[in-house]
Amino acid sequence: IREDYDEVSEFVANYIKERIRQFEPNTERPFVLGLPTGSSPVGVYKRLVELYNSGQVSFEHVVTFNMDEYVGLPRDHPESYRSFMWKTLFMHVNIRPENVHILDGNAPDLDEECKKFEAEITRVGGIELFLGGIGPDGHIAFNEPGSSLTSRTRVKTLAYETIIANARFFEGDIAKVPKLALTVGVATVMDAREVVVLITGAHKAIALAKCIEEGVNHMWTVSAIQMHPKGLIVCDEDATLEL
Ligand code: GLP
Repeated sequence: IREDYDEVSEFVANYIKERIRQFEPNTERPFVLGLPTGSSPVGVYKRLVELYNSGQVSFEHVVTFNMDEYVGLPRDHPESYRSFMWKTLFMHVNIRPENVHILDGNAPDLDEECKKFEAEITRVGGIELFLGGIGPDGHIAFNEPGSSLTSRTRVKTLAYETIIANARFFEGDIAKVPKLALTVGVATVMDAREVVVLITGAHKAIALAKCIEEGVNHMWTVSAIQMHPKGLIVCDEDATLEL
């Protein structure tokens, strides 16, 4: 638990930096990092860019996999997760473009696209650290309430709650929010050797309580972290209101 959003961001950025640096002597094997979008990780990405600019971390041997992407938004739409990631992090650091993996929500065969994504994760040796955020309903990536805890990367219909929550990025107009997304599954996240989840703000307090104080439950999908051997939730004081 950290005081506020900035402290959470600072802690997590430093944590990731240290983990990447531990891998640096081993240039044979890249550091494979799973990444989220949304407002939660913006502070972490900002701080990682600062750490990169001051020479404290390099992304030369980092391979990334993003959690999710909307279906049907043009690739260069300002709200596509691809645009978000390049704008917020990738264009500011020395990551190699071929090391960035983001699901293509415009692929002609979406099921095939999801299978290819899982196969690529396996090919690089699995994900070392998966960073995640959650929705106010406790979803991780787009694993909406009711998603199987053994789910893998697939097409998912967004919950009405999520469409409402994400309308703020589409001029407040729910009609403009895509209704389908590609998302890693709960099991794809939990297969990572380490899972770090950011939870900030009072609007996530009920989700945090449900996910850690109640049983593992497919209605609050991030609760699966309870079974992970190396799971870390980093939250601010506001998010702890219901604990
Ligand atoms: C979307 C994303 C999630 C993210 C969530 C929370 O649903 N698919 O990966 O965790 O939004 O967003 P925010 O961090 O803006 O609250």
